[in-house]
Amino acid sequence: MHEANPWLPLVARIRPNGLPTVNNASSPSESGCVAGPHMVEPSLVQDDGTTILGFKMKGSWLFSIAIAAIFISSTVWVLTKPHLPFSADDPRLTPGDAERGRLVFAAGDCGSCHASPGQPDRLRLGGDLALASPYGTFRTPNISPDRQAGIGSWSVADLANALAAGVSPAKKHYYPVFPYASYTGMKIDDIRDLYAFLRTLEPVADHPQPHDIALLFRIRRFVGLWKFLFFNEGRSEGMLNGDPLHDRGAYLVEVVGHCAECHSSRNVFGAIEPITRFAGGVSSEGVGFNPNITPGGIGSWSENDITMMLRSGKTPDHGYVGWSMADVVRNTAELTEADRIAVARYLKSLPPRPTAHP
Ligand code: HEC
Ligand code: HEC
Repeated sequence: MHEANPWLPLVARIRPNGLPTVNNASSPSESGCVAGPHMVEPSLVQDDGTTILGFKMKGSWLFSIAIAAIFISSTVWVLTKPHLPFSADDPRLTPGDAERGRLVFAAGDCGSCHASPGQPDRLRLGGDLALASPYGTFRTPNISPDRQAGIGSWSVADLANALAAGVSPAKKHYYPVFPYASYTGMKIDDIRDLYAFLRTLEPVADHPQPHDIALLFRIRRFVGLWKFLFFNEGRSEGMLNGDPLHDRGAYLVEVVGHCAECHSSRNVFGAIEPITRFAGGVSSEGVGFNPNITPGGIGSWSENDITMMLRSGKTPDHGYVGWSMADVVRNTAELTEADRIAVARYLKSLPPRPTAHP
């Protein structure tokens, strides 16, 4: 047995002209290779008579796959890179007005998710509210001005990047359960005012629990792919028509109030399906159905009925709204009457859509 190297029979079969030949010295019993005069595999000989050597062909395939893999992964890496639209010295980020910020906070419903659960103070922003989803349970962070537990060390640019781009100061993507896909259309003035208001609140030292989500989703970089497919930074879905009240309503409904985040159905990636926008959908917790609020669902409600509901929770047909909408109304009740009318006017102008079916 002179051929200890199992690759040798194969090598021995390659003549300098590149044509495969028979290694007469090898027999199946000696080398484990069953090459014989009649064993030149047809696949090695191309139609034009030239020959591709098995190992060469495999090598070039592997090479192409490796190049493709490198190309795809670097493209994905670039596409999923977190992007920070605001820098600390952005001239647009001048100090805001905290009193106006209070209204932005109410319109944005921030307290419904970030107020510490189990206590009545909506401005105690210790977080830790559990948000169930098909991907696991998310926990809201502490956004009080506490420097350790909250966002006390943040600049206004940090807040702007979180709301407009869904990116943290550490340059990590946020999960879209934080509804920045809507907030991304927020006016810079509103973000500045909101920041000023948040600074006036009590610091809360509580540390919320970490998210309890599937292992794969813990890799935040993947959210970059979701953003690539479904997120339009800085864009509002609002349809404007030049009537200032209607257009203000478009901003409040589509952007700050993020009403579509609850009143629509989602695809398997958790992104809103455009044809179901405002036409209703299963709640994110998977229990109950959030109603259709296009004229296809509440067409019989007048502008006045909607305004009244946003002020008091009272509906024209069935008493009072409940569930998470009761929380929303605690906020819309704090808005100006003009803003509530604006929301109602915009809802009345939506294209009527049939109620989405889960
Ligand atoms: C539907 C619930 C929900 C609403 C409404 C909401 N948030 Fe959040 N928010 C979250 C969740 C969940 C996270 C954590 C996301 C993550 O870990 O990727 C978050 C993250 C944040 C962060 C990042 C905090 C940190 O420590 O990195 C800030 C700041 C924030 N939200 C501010 C706001 C403001 C301001 C509003 C209102 C305009 C608001 N949120 C409304 C759920 C919500
Ligand atoms: C956190 C999820 C959530 C958000 C955000 C939300 N809603 Fe709702 N909404 C609900 C749920 C749940 C109901 C059903 C309440 C019930 O049946 O008692 C509801 C009910 C309603 C109704 C009554 C519909 C009916 O047929 O009775 C209207 C109108 C409405 N919402 C408008 C809005 C507007 C406008 C916004 C944005 C400012 C908004 N909602 C934001 C969850 C939400």
